Parts: sequence; C-alpha cells; structure tokens
Amino acid sequence: MSLLLSNATIGQLELKNRVVMSPMCMYEVKNEDGILTPFHFAHYGMRAISQVGLIITESTAVEPDGRITKNDLGLWNDDQKNEFKKLVDSIHYLGSKIGIQLNHAGRKAENAVNPVAPSAISFNDEFRTPAELTINQINEIINNFGKAAKRAENAGADMVEIHGAHGYLLHQFLSAVANHRTD
Ligand SMILES: Cc1cc2nc3c(=O)[nH]c(=O)nc-3n(C[C@H](O)[C@H](O)[C@H](O)COP(=O)(O)O)c2cc1C
Repeated sequence: MSLLLSNATIGQLELKNRVVMSPMCMYEVKNEDGILTPFHFAHYGMRAISQVGLIITESTAVEPDGRITKNDLGLWNDDQKNEFKKLVDSIHYLGSKIGIQLNHAGRKAENAVNPVAPSAISFNDEFRTPAELTINQINEIINNFGKAAKRAENAGADMVEIHGAHGYLLHQFLSAVANHRTD
C-alpha cells in the first residue's frame, strides 16, 4: 500500500490515511447566521464518501465580527454547535475524521460592524480602518476562541485548527506592518 493511503496518527488522532482536505471558505451561509446549510453537508459528506482521512472545515468565526464575510460559518453560539454536531456525526458515520478551523478575520472582516485589529491600520483602500483593540477586547477574543473550541469538542470534532495565516487577526499580531503596538 502507498504511504499516502496508510494509517497515520497526529497526537492521539488516528487517521485511516494521510489525505487531508484543507480548509476552504465556501461563502454559502446565505442567511448570514453562521449556521451550516445543506450545501455544507453535501460538500463535506462528498469528501468523506471519497475516503478523505481528515476533513478540516472552512474558516469558522469565533464571533460575528470575526467573519471574513457575512456568508461564513460561525461557532459563537449553541445553534451553530448543534448543526456542527450533526455534521460531525454524519462524517464519522461515513468513516472520516473532521476538524474545525477557528478564525477571527480582524481588519479583513469585510462586513464587520466594528472591524478591529492590533493597530488602526487598514488592510488596503478597499477596507475600513479598524479600531485598535484594547487589552480587554483582546482577552475577550481569546476567550471566544476558547469557547468556540469547547463547542467544537462538544460537537464531537476530532480536532480544531487555529487560523494563524492569510493576514487574519493572529497573523496581524505577528506582522510588523499591521501591528504597531508597544504594549
Ligand atoms: C476557495 C478557497 C478557499 C480557501 N479558504 C481557506 C480557509 O478558509 N482557511 C485556510 O486556512 N485556507 C483557505 N484556503 C487555502 C487552502 O486551504 C490551501 O492552503 C491552499 O489552497 C493551498 O493548498 P495547496 O498547497 O494544497 O495547493 C482556501 C483556498 C481556496 C482555493
């Protein structure tokens, strides 16, 4: 058997093969409530039927203003968690493992009511200037990542992935261009 199709473990997570679906935003939450739709059940279910060992969901926001767009998934409330549980159960039924990618888009949150970032610097001319986060707000976002991770666990997800790239909030903190803080 090829290495690609052989068993693998990541920590305690056991995978039937090494084929992993990377997270890909689908912008399919048409009613803007962050809740999975029939599209997502078909989209991820198809990959499980195709024998992907580990499916990682698209960027899933830890709070409403953390969405990249208003059509993204969220995991900031229990209605969202309850639908995730159904998705996780169906993916497990089909024999694959599933993780949830947690994200906050920071200054790249296109539809945020109040976009926030480490510093009040816009991504480019097409984005609004974000408000500089206070320490209390930073702690609140950290807590929201924790609460979303707990909901993922309660939904039965096999793992979470924290999005630290692509210019979103965590990446903004790591960037000397986006982060001019001195505290
Ligand atoms: C339509 C689309 C949506 C994507 N959305 C996400 C995302 O939500 N989160 C993420 O970390 N990467 C996202 N990516 C990046 C992919 O996960 C992946 O890293 C990238 O396509 C490179 O994969 P490759 O090296 O296998 O070509 C997206 C890519 C595409 C094409």
